[in-house]
Amino acid sequence: MGFATIDDMPDVAGKRVLVRADLNVPIADGRVTDATRLSAAVPTLAAMADRGACVLVLSHFGRPTPGDKSLSLAAIAPALSAVMGRPVGFVADCIGPVAEAAVAAMTPGSIMVLENARFHPGEKANDPGFVAALARLGDFYINDAFSVSHRAHASTAGLAHVLPAFAGRSMAAELVALEKALGNPEHPVAAVVGGAKVSSKLDVLTHLVTKVDHLMIGGAMANTFLAARGIAVGKSLCEHDLAPMVLDILARAQVAGCTVHLPYEVVVARELAANAPHRSCNVHEVADDEMILDLGEAAVEALADAIKTCRTLVWNGPLGAFETTPFDAATVTLARIAGALTQSGGLVSVAGGGDTVAALNHAGVAEQFSYVSTAGGAFLEWMEGKPLPGVVALERRK
Ligand code: 3PG
Ligand code: MG
Repeated sequence: MGFATIDDMPDVAGKRVLVRADLNVPIADGRVTDATRLSAAVPTLAAMADRGACVLVLSHFGRPTPGDKSLSLAAIAPALSAVMGRPVGFVADCIGPVAEAAVAAMTPGSIMVLENARFHPGEKANDPGFVAALARLGDFYINDAFSVSHRAHASTAGLAHVLPAFAGRSMAAELVALEKALGNPEHPVAAVVGGAKVSSKLDVLTHLVTKVDHLMIGGAMANTFLAARGIAVGKSLCEHDLAPMVLDILARAQVAGCTVHLPYEVVVARELAANAPHRSCNVHEVADDEMILDLGEAAVEALADAIKTCRTLVWNGPLGAFETTPFDAATVTLARIAGALTQSGGLVSVAGGGDTVAALNHAGVAEQFSYVSTAGGAFLEWMEGKPLPGVVALERRK
């Protein structure tokens, strides 16, 4: 690996360790609704505390506007404590006298969450003065937040240049999994890309056709491809103005020898509602007042047959309107097949980004995949082949 991990750290007993975690978890009515990212932070935080370090957790929370202090991490520290099963304190600022006094009073093995780094404009600006103020609090820096590594912020990139920097357990696991999936994968490689909009994934698709052997397009974005090929998609969600872009992607795929799988059989209905009357049909038979809401059974079977010939699978985005039954069928069926192929040892499967984790959890197979990323935007930028500033900053320290 091109970066140092916490296994490469010198003795940290009695030292102050700044750990950049991603505590940006969803909350509703003051309660954390998905603690996955908190759980992901535990191995590194526990390891540091067990080695006798004074552990400072650094994170952002939401996207506060200047002066708005409502997005406080004060509510998240107790949730992290609950997940860790040990006390976690909270410090009302991440720099300055308040933070410095709190850190000076810490005992080895204790853990404190610092207030939202984005309360200071220097965080997003990666301002050297703010970086220096953060660096005063720690002897070592650990980045364990892959899901924010697409941001060149003070806490994700700046600190790695001024303190001895290491990748945390989650960061390291993520980078190893991603390397296996796209960096240096075993071929043949299949990518499933779904979701509503081609416009948000143009760069992903353009990059993937040069990397994978099979590109499987689902979700409403498949409608844009079908329409660009002259197929009438009725009332389906579709970005008609993107036709030239998707035709360009198809042309690039052909040059690169990437097989693009578009649905040829679909499930249509007149409205998107639970158990709305629906039927399966050939893509050429969609009526003017119908919309495509899922892939048909035969189309899913064809995708499964192709995945069975592959060694590696990358999955981003649902195949259909999976939040609404029965339009979750294709996503659930294909995810279960991929999970089973992974478990039987024939397939490395990596999933991530946006709705993907929710879709795999809905199918009950997240645990069966080789790796499921906690990242949204960072996973997409990685799929676009872009260098991630937080990762690059770690790599230059090796
Ligand atoms: C996320 O939730 O995607 C990460 O925490 C990054 O947050 P951001 O998109 O506000 O930078
Ligand atoms: Mg984001």
